[in-house]
Amino acid sequence: MDVIQQLTEWKKQHSGKELYCVIGDPIKQSKSPLMLNEAFKASSVDAIYAAFHVTPEQLSPFMEAARELGVAGMNVTIPHKLHVMDLIDEIHPDARALGAVNTVVNCKGKLIGYNTDGIGYVRSLKEEAIANIKDKQVVVVGAGGAARGIIYALLKEKPSAVHIVNRTREKAEELVISFESSVPLYAADQDQLQKLCEQADIVINTTSVGMFPHIDETPVQGEWLKIGAVASDLIYNPLKTRFLQDAEQYGGIAHGGLGMFIYQGAFAFEYWTGKQAPTKQMREIVLNALQS
Ligand code: ATR
Repeated sequence: MDVIQQLTEWKKQHSGKELYCVIGDPIKQSKSPLMLNEAFKASSVDAIYAAFHVTPEQLSPFMEAARELGVAGMNVTIPHKLHVMDLIDEIHPDARALGAVNTVVNCKGKLIGYNTDGIGYVRSLKEEAIANIKDKQVVVVGAGGAARGIIYALLKEKPSAVHIVNRTREKAEELVISFESSVPLYAADQDQLQKLCEQADIVINTTSVGMFPHIDETPVQGEWLKIGAVASDLIYNPLKTRFLQDAEQYGGIAHGGLGMFIYQGAFAFEYWTGKQAPTKQMREIVLNALQS
């Protein structure tokens, strides 16, 4: 059965319920169905959420079918975050500026695209590690797509400065040029990393360094951090990377990547339902699944 037929069958099986889904390629490992179905249940929303494996060639017909079948909302993941923008009706200015949509809301037949990755990250950082980012000095390691989303959201919090350190300096420089902000934003060389970390209040790893199976690697030495500084890692496999473990050992506050996943989903849930997301239950169920 192809994916359009799967969607049609699924709609038939759950007629009467609001339908939500995540699309990506690959998608098998996604914890979004588990997390969002739990959120609907905990909030007594009569809705159901499933994952669909949609290849790039299937994206356009899938979106058409989703529109016809009245799918109420979608999460969009790799590799579709860019191309889906051509297949929806409206794009929130923040998602437009980032060039990526990860959440679609069906508003009375009109498909509207948002990006909840960066704001999800910042909400997680503020709720779990540091309540106020204003006037804080931030170092971001890495200059890829993930860094772009979180820096965009971080700049709105008015930190005192953001330094982007990347293996390939030109990419950090390109990122700096692409943002318009009153917050001082700098690109730096890898050899400046230690000094910048020694002065920073928040150090964020957006690279894959330390991700399973390379769990002994770290982008930043824990001893470089100030006591009380926040060490934040977008990686959530493992839940506590070597970077975070080292930082804690030297008096830092560890902030793991799971929160970003939970809160990007929380924003999607809130855009879809208008209700506050049950983040505690969402975290618990995902954490249990990751630990089992
Ligand atoms: P994502 O969308 O997850 O951010 P990406 O766009 O491929 O993924 O970006 C990955 C980032 O991690 C890049 O900044 C990359 O550095 P380069 O620009 O030099 O490629 C960084 N990165 C990945 N592996 C790295 C490693 N082993 N050491 C240092 N930086 C690394």
